[in-house]
Amino acid sequence: MADPLASEFVFSLGNPGSENGLKQEVEAMRLGWRSGYQRRGFVTFKVDAPFSLESLDVQLACSRRLCLSLGKSATREEAIERLEVASVIHHARYFERKMQGLPCEARPQVGEIIGTVVELGSAEFWSGIHRHTPFLSPDPAGDSGILMPVDSPSRAWLKLEEAVRFFGLEFTPADIVVELGCAPGGVVLALLRRGVSVIGVDPAKMADVVVSSAIDNRDGAAGREPWFFHCRKPAALVSKRDLGHGVTWFMSDMNQSPDVVLRECARFCKMAPEIRGVLITLKLTDIMQIADKARWFESLAGMGFTHMRLQQLAVHHKEFSLLATKS
Ligand SMILES: C[S@@+](CC[C@H](N)C(=O)[O-])C[C@H]1O[C@@H](n2cnc3c(N)ncnc32)[C@H](O)[C@@H]1O
Repeated sequence: MADPLASEFVFSLGNPGSENGLKQEVEAMRLGWRSGYQRRGFVTFKVDAPFSLESLDVQLACSRRLCLSLGKSATREEAIERLEVASVIHHARYFERKMQGLPCEARPQVGEIIGTVVELGSAEFWSGIHRHTPFLSPDPAGDSGILMPVDSPSRAWLKLEEAVRFFGLEFTPADIVVELGCAPGGVVLALLRRGVSVIGVDPAKMADVVVSSAIDNRDGAAGREPWFFHCRKPAALVSKRDLGHGVTWFMSDMNQSPDVVLRECARFCKMAPEIRGVLITLKLTDIMQIADKARWFESLAGMGFTHMRLQQLAVHHKEFSLLATKS
């Protein structure tokens, strides 16, 4: 009898437009997967047997969800029937030019087998399974579907919140984030509302909604948590004195090349050795630049980070979240 947890096919759900980037990653990693049927946001690969759920433990920045494919059905009911090994079923669909996940209340536990039904047309439903592990999005199709609050000054709020949900990041009130490229303040607003204080670096003006939490200098912070300190200058001019003590996270949303951002990241990590995590929104001019992923990881390893992830999120266009943490 066929093993219900094995298949010769894998499918990936991701952002429409990133399919070639995904195929390039698969090739660069020498996985031996051969790309096959493809639709926008959906790519299938033929893999060499034996291939199991554990073999899906591959980090592909252009894939928000990787599943063992259990085949195609003409109806949703038939697609669900193929997923009897799964304890939770997620639903995804290509809609409004996006590969969307449909909201699901159940939070998967680590180790649990999740089924996914992907609707690509009125009579085209694909069934797939994966096992939930840390750093995998708990949401259907890796898409939390969160909506931005009306008072957020920018879409950067969504990028921060989606990354927090996707990677399962946790902050404490003792954390202090330094964010390069903080204006007008979507990320700062999200962090303040999570109770986290922020040193924002940017020569540009901040929105009033975050200015109300601003302190005039780092010494004025005591007892006013969470606070925001605007260091109104270009990143390259920030010194150890501007940062003070206790910075634990480095974030960047500067519209600069990956090399410039990583150079600043290394300098800030030297100035603030308590930094335990890095979260960068990398802006690529061409999706094929992800060929540099190994070089970016090497540079972060050189700064003392042990776990690195590069991930395109549902709210990104030509952007990627680069996460690095220390164990
Ligand atoms: C996409 S916006 C940032 C959005 C912001 N993170 C938010 O949450 O609203 C990019 C910002 O990077 C800033 N920037 C670009 N180069 C910079 C540099 N060298 N130093 C500091 N900020 C920089 C720009 O002034 C701009 O405000």
